[in-house]
Amino acid sequence: NISTDSPEKRAAGVAASRIVESRMVVGLGTGSTVAYTIKELGRRIREEGLEILGVVTSYQSEMLAIEAGIPLTTLAQHPELDIAIDGVDQIDSRLYAIKGGGAAHTREKIVSSSSKRFVVVADESKTSKQLDKTVPIEVLPFAKTLVVKKIKELGGKPELRSALRKDGPVITDNGNFILDVDFGVINDPENLALQLSSIPGVVEHGIFSNVDELYIGKKDESVEIIRR
Ligand code: A5P
Repeated sequence: NISTDSPEKRAAGVAASRIVESRMVVGLGTGSTVAYTIKELGRRIREEGLEILGVVTSYQSEMLAIEAGIPLTTLAQHPELDIAIDGVDQIDSRLYAIKGGGAAHTREKIVSSSSKRFVVVADESKTSKQLDKTVPIEVLPFAKTLVVKKIKELGGKPELRSALRKDGPVITDNGNFILDVDFGVINDPENLALQLSSIPGVVEHGIFSNVDELYIGKKDESVEIIRR
């Protein structure tokens, strides 16, 4: 929920925005934590003369960036970003992460993979010894039945994500469905990622293995930084 204030999320989001310097092209992630980063970058543009270009990862981050007054560009114009900053749903001590709680992980993965440095911002509730949350998988609607079958063969329990204020499934910013898949404890995220990517019709899964730095906001508003 991006309308409720969270001191932990704010601490992490604002701390990460300080890494950003003028002339950088910055990937702007999606979710309630990085929303603080986007807001703070807008403040620095207005008050400190920071000069950056942003690349958005969703309609949500586009709307927030426009509201914050961040000039935007595209991946086609700037295929190599200096930094990408984003939230996360769960992250382990090796910095393997699960993303896609907001159904934005496909563009988030493309933007973060186009970036020299990928920083994630989170409150303490997101950290875990091992990954065990459901893995969001964006699926081409045409391929849903096949993908469900292949995921079950891998031992996963898939559930089609349904929309809250619309009858039927969630439709992503790219026009696809989301399957939330329970794999229990994920011991080998790299291997699972490879298996999921090889299923025809999987547009993108929410396992990320490209996080360089994690900013964890604490209750006392201090921030712990973990680097790969
Ligand atoms: C969007 O699909 C996700 O990958 C978000 O980045 C993730 O859900 C983090 O959101 P919060 O900061 O709101 O928890």
